[in-house]
Amino acid sequence: MKVTVVGAGNVGATCANCIAHADIVKEVIVLDIKEGVAEGKALDMWETAPINLYNTRLIGSTNDYSKTADSDIVVITSGLPRKPGMSRDDLISTNANIVKSVTEAAIAHSPNAIFIIVSNPLDVMTYCAYLTAKVDSSRVFGMAGILDTARYRAFLAEALNVSPKDIQAVLMGGHGDTMVPLPRYTTVSGIPVTELIEEDKLNAIIERTKKGGGEIVNLMGTSAWYAPGAAAAQMVEAIVKDEDRIFPVCAWLQGEYGLNDIYLGVPVKLGKGGIKEIIELKLNDSEKELLKTSAEHVKDVMAVLDNMAVA
Ligand code: NAI
Ligand code: 2OP
Repeated sequence: MKVTVVGAGNVGATCANCIAHADIVKEVIVLDIKEGVAEGKALDMWETAPINLYNTRLIGSTNDYSKTADSDIVVITSGLPRKPGMSRDDLISTNANIVKSVTEAAIAHSPNAIFIIVSNPLDVMTYCAYLTAKVDSSRVFGMAGILDTARYRAFLAEALNVSPKDIQAVLMGGHGDTMVPLPRYTTVSGIPVTELIEEDKLNAIIERTKKGGGEIVNLMGTSAWYAPGAAAAQMVEAIVKDEDRIFPVCAWLQGEYGLNDIYLGVPVKLGKGGIKEIIELKLNDSEKELLKTSAEHVKDVMAVLDNMAVA
């Protein structure tokens, strides 16, 4: 198996590193437009193989897509990250041009690849890749839900003083402040979280989760990469090992949850070939309302892309 990670920046390099350490694929190609950066980072990572004992070969490329040929999976992380004061949506025009050109080049060399998009604004960049790749939507989807859910789970583990391993949760909607954490589907080793934490504390955690990306941007002056890179790598692993894992993933909806022609975060079954199934939860009225609001926001940004002359 061969995986290409486009963008050797913070998220891309972390993702490639996580995939290599999992030792589940033969090759990881890291590609960037900055001369030598992908080669340098791939070499540095490959030099950890004798220390950390994995076989995956890491190979860097400065914009030479022939090296990515016949990839099974392409992870797209190329694009500008947020700076303080910016929303993810502020990145749309620059990143849409990058995502479009990268998708075109990647699919020309790997026509059967599965595409995992990470670049922001996530839901709309995934839509952009889907429009460009012109392949079945089961093969084009975005990473955000695993990250957002991981933040929620990490905050809960801290508040409850329990292992993060024991927190199960699902979070839906767009990758932005309108995301929809679902306390009704949150458990600690099967115990409903609402039995373990006061409502006001849970609400504060939900609010912190929604702004979790911004919290890190404010601390570091750029956006996160350890958790985003690990989250994208976890999706790669589920596909490579045909694990049939259930993850929140930014997927193309055609009637599910009463929504059409939109990329939005929903629980899916992920395995060989990509998305095998979109899982429809029986949301209550207030959850449906929150999802609808989130979908409306994503649709507005999708319309910006539709009306934009992306070169
Ligand atoms: P970064 O600036 O560290 O890395 C981006 C890399 O993309 C740079 O090395 C740049 O040279 C490269 N690049 C730009 N244009 C390219 C092109 N045409 N072809 C190949 N490479 C190109 O940024 P970082 O922190 O890695 O973030 C990457 C993207 O991921 C951003 O858009 C960020 O907002 C997004 N992101 C999304 C998350 C999510 O949950 N979906 C979480 C974290 C970041
Ligand atoms: C994050 O949530 C900025 O989307 C990026 O960290």
